[in-house]
Amino acid sequence: MTGPDILSAEYAADPFPFYREMLASFPVYRHPATGYHLISRHAEVTRVLQEPPFTNEIYAWQLEPVAGGRTIVQMDGEEHAYYRRLMGAPLRGSNFRERIVPEIERVSAGLIQALRDRGRADLREDYADLMPCEVVSVLLGLPEEDRSKFRRWFVSINAFMSNFGNDPAVTAAGLAARAEMTGYLRPLIEDRRARPRGDLLSAFCNAEIDGVPLDDRQIQAHCSTLIAANGDGTSATITYTLKELLMRPEHLRAARRDRSLIDRMHLEATRLNPPVHMLLRFTARDVDLPSGRVSAGSTVACMVAAAQRDPDRFDEPDVFNPYRAEIDPVRDFTPGGSIVHFGRGRHYCLGAHIARITVGIAVNQLLGALPDLRLADDADLTENGIFTRNLVRLPIAFTPAPRGATTAIWHKASRAGLA
Ligand code: HEM
Repeated sequence: MTGPDILSAEYAADPFPFYREMLASFPVYRHPATGYHLISRHAEVTRVLQEPPFTNEIYAWQLEPVAGGRTIVQMDGEEHAYYRRLMGAPLRGSNFRERIVPEIERVSAGLIQALRDRGRADLREDYADLMPCEVVSVLLGLPEEDRSKFRRWFVSINAFMSNFGNDPAVTAAGLAARAEMTGYLRPLIEDRRARPRGDLLSAFCNAEIDGVPLDDRQIQAHCSTLIAANGDGTSATITYTLKELLMRPEHLRAARRDRSLIDRMHLEATRLNPPVHMLLRFTARDVDLPSGRVSAGSTVACMVAAAQRDPDRFDEPDVFNPYRAEIDPVRDFTPGGSIVHFGRGRHYCLGAHIARITVGIAVNQLLGALPDLRLADDADLTENGIFTRNLVRLPIAFTPAPRGATTAIWHKASRAGLA
């Protein structure tokens, strides 16, 4: 007897019944088609994500070829610590509040302005997908007019990372995106070396390891990592948080009244529907977990989405309850919380804070600007993706604003402590 087939059409359509089966009957098993060992229980997923002998070596084939060089997620020791400091400062540091947060607010207000007089929109395509591309461009300091290119690159990079069936067209598109990005970044890198500014690209261009500056490939790899790391996760989080609110009027009313609840809504929506469904690790030797053995030389798939519905960790795990005791908006944006889709241990997501702020601003601004925001009557809520997952679209309806009306930046969340 073998566990669920994660490459089947039924699993792709709705993986959640399969997660229940994994948790109950196949907490550790080898999936024949991929050769991966799948683990699903919360306690074991959190252990494998952060403890030796499990390593992140798999990013050498999952990300490095499209990134164009070694990336922070596959590094260890001193090298890893150096890059965490280099990237971490602008993502959390002192100029974050003064420079980045107002930019995110401006971006979100601009996107809402562009759809306000239409009365209908697809919240994924018209809003959620655009926010992270804009935010990463702001962080890197890239020209505003080039931002749509990033969206294309990140779709190809992300598809490459999820290409478990080894589709050659997906591989080729990923490598083509890398080549295009190399050409695009070259003059910008030269410019930042000569004239550094306060952005992350300048920080990469002027960083040194043991006195040696980073070369173009290394800089590109870090930019690609940010594009890949930021894109899908933030978009899916905005989409799922809004979907849950629009489907549950009592929670929507509560969030409208008290914007500080948006963090809880975000965490609970993505506990049930994490943007990342699985994270991979490698082990060079046999490991006996309480639920079974993982053999030497295996890729291990940590089934994050199953772990976040583990009945041993969450009471009534399939119920949407933003007030549940296991969710804690302070701890759950750190490696110590119950949520595992930001990872665990030393590779814990460097962008968890900025993701929290971006989602908070995106939801807050939308609630402020569209008082009768609702799901469109014919809304089709199909999802896709087995590595990362999102709604294909989120169709909404609202009363159109009169032409010429402008979208104010809605600061209620900032005052409530979101920023
Ligand atoms: C909801 C949105 C996001 C999700 C779900 C997410 C998820 C993750 C996960 C699971 C990891 C760890 C990967 C592993 O251990 O194998 C990670 C690492 C990382 N994330 Fe995020 N991420 C999000 C947003 C962001 C944003 C907005 C940024 C930056 C702008 C970012 C930057 C990074 C970086 C640089 C790492 C590598 C950290 C290291 O290796 O030390 N992420 N993210």
